[in-house]
Amino acid sequence: MPEEALVQVADGLKVPLTRVYGMATFFSSFSLKPRGRHVCTVCMGTACHVRGAQRLVEHVQRDYGIAPGETTPDLRLTLETVNCVGACALGPLAIIDGEYHGQLSTQKLGRLLKTVKE
Ligand code: FES
Repeated sequence: MPEEALVQVADGLKVPLTRVYGMATFFSSFSLKPRGRHVCTVCMGTACHVRGAQRLVEHVQRDYGIAPGETTPDLRLTLETVNCVGACALGPLAIIDGEYHGQLSTQKLGRLLKTVKE
């Protein structure tokens, strides 16, 4: 949601802009920046981290040219990180469009990301 939209919402609801901004940034499903059609969330919790989660993030960064929190210019993919989703035994894991993928290698993640629909 762009800044102008936040201002319009604040004006329309007659509430302070800070309140609208706080609401727009509190929930992880809301974003002030455009998100991709697909979202890859790599778990960076301790268990996943020690099993190579950083390599997964670096792989996506290298292949798609985006850092965590960023989206490809064609809006195909957003890369996010999260700290533990409670499936530590499956680590390292990533969630792609809401589906959990555990015991990932960089090769497996690369294949999965290539198969997500345009
Ligand atoms: S650390 Fe990744 S699921 Fe717990």
